[in-house]
Amino acid sequence: MLVSSKQMVIDAQGGKYAVGCFNTSDLEITKAIIAAATAQHSPVIISTSPKAIEYAGAEVLAEIIKKEAFNARVPVALHLDHGLTLALVENCLDLGYTSIMFDGSGSDLEHNEILTRQAVEMSHAHRVPCEGELGHLGKAGPSTSLDLAPSGILGTSRDKSLGVNKNPSKLTDPDDVISFVQKTNVDFLAPSIGSEHGIGENETLDISLLKKINAQTGIPLVLHGASGVPDKDIKEAIKYGIAKINIDTDIRHTFVRSLRDFLDKNPKEKDPREILTKVMDEIQKYVEGKIKLFGSDNKV
Ligand code: G3H
Ligand code: ZN
Repeated sequence: MLVSSKQMVIDAQGGKYAVGCFNTSDLEITKAIIAAATAQHSPVIISTSPKAIEYAGAEVLAEIIKKEAFNARVPVALHLDHGLTLALVENCLDLGYTSIMFDGSGSDLEHNEILTRQAVEMSHAHRVPCEGELGHLGKAGPSTSLDLAPSGILGTSRDKSLGVNKNPSKLTDPDDVISFVQKTNVDFLAPSIGSEHGIGENETLDISLLKKINAQTGIPLVLHGASGVPDKDIKEAIKYGIAKINIDTDIRHTFVRSLRDFLDKNPKEKDPREILTKVMDEIQKYVEGKIKLFGSDNKV
């Protein structure tokens, strides 16, 4: 069933586990994520970055996910990941998204607060929760699906300055947290605590910083850039307020690696449906492993 992410993330915060927020850009990854959540009896958030939306087309991608979610036996939320413009937020709300992230972290704090507040108001008018980012997660590696999409969906030229890929990482200042949460009224807060988008090297989390941030606010916290973060750090983070965990890069790498492996071993296979079924199986296995690590298994 298609649901809001609000209650599932609040339940995770109360139960000391995290809901996986897994990125998709197509039918195959969407089906694999929902199959994993179903097998593990877990709620799940299916997330679409601006680049994924540009790739698949906003309406087509939303309709695929909504239809698959509608048919699922577990709760599924449809999430906008790193919405960089208010125009994109509005577009996604009109398409029936049930969870929004507005990312103003590429801007200065004052503009981040002003724009995030507007995104929250727009989302709440649709009874949809909205996440904001404080501090800034940069990217490791050459390309992530958070790179700015080439055209079309990014809104006004002013908004285009909010590129998540343009700035280096900046850890969250715990002294900014209370004011940001109060001024913006965000439902969930994504702090920058050491992880990066893409798989970085030695990607460990600053747990003492997370503890300070968590002590400032009662709202659920979101871990971005979780591909490549060691399991022990993930488990520690969940103890200190992380209730939603975002994974994108690892899923795309699993897709490509399993596609290559299968074609290497089966060079004569000509049916894409046979090939992509194997790819989906590998993505499902990967997502099931993360669901168990995050502790959201057997919660529905
Ligand atoms: O918003 C999406 C995630 O933060 C992606 O992180 O590149 O480490 O998978 P990742
Ligand atoms: Zn992210």
